[in-house]
Amino acid sequence: MKGKLGAFILVFFLVINSCMGEIEKKCLTITSTKSLKHDYDCAILNFGSSQDQEATVIGNVIYPKMNTKGCKDFNCYFKLKAWYAQNAGASAVLVADYFVEPLPTIILTEYHLRNVSIPSILITKTLGDSIKKALFNDKMVNVKLNWRKSPVYVEYEFWTDINSGCGTKCDKQIEFVHKFKRAAKLLEQKGYTKFTPHYPIWYCPIAFTLTKQCKSQYFSKGYDGKDVVIENLRQLCLFKVANESGTPWVWWDYVTEFGNRCSMKEQKFNKECADQVIQSLGLDIVKIDECMGDDFNADVENPILSAEQDAQLNKGSRGNVTIIPTLVINNKIYKGKLEKGGVLKAICEVLPVNKKPDICSDHEKGQESD
Ligand SMILES: *[C@@H]1O[C@H](CO)[C@@H](O)[C@H](O)[C@H]1NC(C)=O
Ligand SMILES: *[C@@H]1O[C@H](CO)[C@@H](O)[C@H](O)[C@H]1NC(C)=O
Ligand SMILES: *[C@@H]1O[C@H](CO)[C@@H](O)[C@H](O)[C@H]1NC(C)=O
Repeated sequence: MKGKLGAFILVFFLVINSCMGEIEKKCLTITSTKSLKHDYDCAILNFGSSQDQEATVIGNVIYPKMNTKGCKDFNCYFKLKAWYAQNAGASAVLVADYFVEPLPTIILTEYHLRNVSIPSILITKTLGDSIKKALFNDKMVNVKLNWRKSPVYVEYEFWTDINSGCGTKCDKQIEFVHKFKRAAKLLEQKGYTKFTPHYPIWYCPIAFTLTKQCKSQYFSKGYDGKDVVIENLRQLCLFKVANESGTPWVWWDYVTEFGNRCSMKEQKFNKECADQVIQSLGLDIVKIDECMGDDFNADVENPILSAEQDAQLNKGSRGNVTIIPTLVINNKIYKGKLEKGGVLKAICEVLPVNKKPDICSDHEKGQESD
């Protein structure tokens, strides 16, 4: 954690359609004056050039007497204000909303003409007015700005039983994978996300044995729980092998292709068909087979499946994954509908403000097509 001392400049600003931010809980602490002592939420507009994941800036607030909008002219864009404040020697800028309203999070429309290296945050008009009043009364307002940079990528898990021949429920998952594939691959290829697929292993009570219970799980004609577990294992191994060669997104291609070509209905839910798909994607079948192990009937635990079992159980704040399908975004269970728009929005929301790919704003504007 880095501590910095300096002046904060307070400016007021019309936020409509011109900036965006993430709401940060309690990112601003007023340490004096007494009447304002409190932790306040804010929207972070710009982290500045700090490379630190976490940082603190401490200072006292100055409200410019002359130039209350922080501009040379009558009014100017937010970033220009921050630029002027920076040139005036400020360590941070507090931008107060012009209206009494909840802190807005709005999409950026202004051009980034200047390099602003100091952090700037948006506060409510109410707080801005209170600070202004205190300053007019010659009170000293000391504040502490804390921020935690979110990592530059989003981690998400997709828990799926897509292979289990579960009818409508599986069809919906296949549809989601089809529709989300393009976005998922793009986000992954450009480094915005780290995706991991997961499969519940409750088809077979002991991870990978040919028990009666396992066999008795009923699927489409001629298939049983074991077939599903083997295909799940194949997809886990495919992901592992693809990930190791730096192309984790191939999972999306495989799953959609496997779904198209290797259905239980057509009696093609098998290794032969799977291998054809693997081959068509240019992946190494030998490596995938090695990962899967070769003794499916032995009463031994498969390490990949055991790891799935562990992953399914509570990890910190997330809770156990008990409902399939489930999407976990940054270790939080996603509560929305399993459909492209909602999932993309949820991922975009947790990406840092200054690190959002075009696909996020295209989606907002409704310009993204399937
Ligand atoms: C902003 O910073 C970049 C990279 O440091 C630099 O190339 C560019 O000239 C700067 N732009 C302005 C307007 O200062
Ligand atoms: C994927 O590869 C990265 C980089 O090699 C590694 O850090 C990560 O743990 C891998 N993920 C999985 C699920 O194997
Ligand atoms: C998760 O599952 C484990 C094992 O069944 C159980 O011990 C634990 O209490 C569960 N945690 C939650 C949060 O439900």
